[in-house]
Amino acid sequence: MNLSIKKIKPFQAVIRVPGDKSISHRSVMIGSIANGITTVENFLPGEDCLSTVNCMRQLGVEIEALSPTALKIKGRGLHGLKEAGDYLDVGNSGTTIRLLSGLLAGQDFFSIITGDASIRRRPMARVAVPLRQMGAQIWGRDQDRLAPLAIKGEPLKAIHYQSPVASAQVKSAILLAGLYADGETSVTEPALSRDHTERMLAGFKGKIQVDGFTTVVSPGELTGQQVVIPGDISSAAFFLAAAAIIPGSRITIQDMGLNPTRTGILEVLAAMGAQIKIENERTVSGEILGDVSVVGQSLKAVEIGGDLIPRLIDEIPVLAVVGAMAEGQTVIRDAGELKVKESNRLRAMATELSRFGAEIRETEDGLLIKGAGKYKGAVCESYHDHRIAMACALMGLAADGTTEVKNSECINISFPGFLDCLAQLGGMERC
Ligand code: S3P
Repeated sequence: MNLSIKKIKPFQAVIRVPGDKSISHRSVMIGSIANGITTVENFLPGEDCLSTVNCMRQLGVEIEALSPTALKIKGRGLHGLKEAGDYLDVGNSGTTIRLLSGLLAGQDFFSIITGDASIRRRPMARVAVPLRQMGAQIWGRDQDRLAPLAIKGEPLKAIHYQSPVASAQVKSAILLAGLYADGETSVTEPALSRDHTERMLAGFKGKIQVDGFTTVVSPGELTGQQVVIPGDISSAAFFLAAAAIIPGSRITIQDMGLNPTRTGILEVLAAMGAQIKIENERTVSGEILGDVSVVGQSLKAVEIGGDLIPRLIDEIPVLAVVGAMAEGQTVIRDAGELKVKESNRLRAMATELSRFGAEIRETEDGLLIKGAGKYKGAVCESYHDHRIAMACALMGLAADGTTEVKNSECINISFPGFLDCLAQLGGMERC
């Protein structure tokens, strides 16, 4: 499917975005291994999270969809999963393959787990290495570095793991395996990545402690809960940025997740000159949420790097677009992880924004963007990467004329309803 976007005028809108992707995955996996019933409200029915539901069903868990966004999960307890009759297919979902590897490492059975072409290119040694240290048997292609992965669960040893990357997927895989270990398992990361697993395990009465960049989990049964999921800040980012780059616009996103390990984008937009207001802030199911408004005015360039990167890791494509609209040179560094996401997002953004006439250059670990603010519509590739497709659409809202985004169906991976939200801003021509 090709998406056609036209330049929009300053707009005013109040919207909600679908449930958080990271929290949706975790609610299904953790609910599946808890005792008793877990109910999930505002679940994200995107393709990635549906892959997690399918995998857990294949492992013997009864999951009822009460509606597209409400689930009832009959938890089977820590030791109640069953060997699947076939391989587990995670589709495009890195979170599913990595977190599930951690869960499968402690099971008394054999699993094969794989996914689409993008998943089969992404690094898996980052989870296989620590899980093997814990005692699991894991094999994969390319000397155990690539999926498909074959996992034979074993009784696990507790380890203290110093992770070389700030990755919530790596941290979470180890913490989930730690539920099956023979003592306290800890993970220390070089900077704090998103902490949804820690918050949810604590909410399910798990034994978990966080001290700085170190998280410690002890084995122990979990208890099913009612989980209400906030709107996904990574989906909201496209609309927060749309208001920021079109001066005179104002957007309010209601019930948006405000977990401090995810709010880097708000800090950056504020530093660039956007007006940001947060109202109605509260905590639900262990996660902070609120209503966030952005008013667009002229923007100036910023430098983004260091510990901020994990706090906005999925928003870098959006921020590249915002940088192209700001006065001065925006520098993004320490973002080498972007090369191993669903696509090489540094290369993809440099290539695609150039098509609009942007001065953007890929560096070793980031991007240099000289903002100009005046661009012409372009025909863009999505690389079958949902966030690249949406970032190109965002650029199309501010570029003269019409922009086409090819192969835009990948947007459904994380943001079903994106086109409806876009239509509310007046930027959608046809699809
Ligand atoms: C995620 C963690 C991040 C993020 C991904 C979702 C998660 O990946 O990019 O979209 O749900 O844990 P890394 O942990 O690999 O940085």
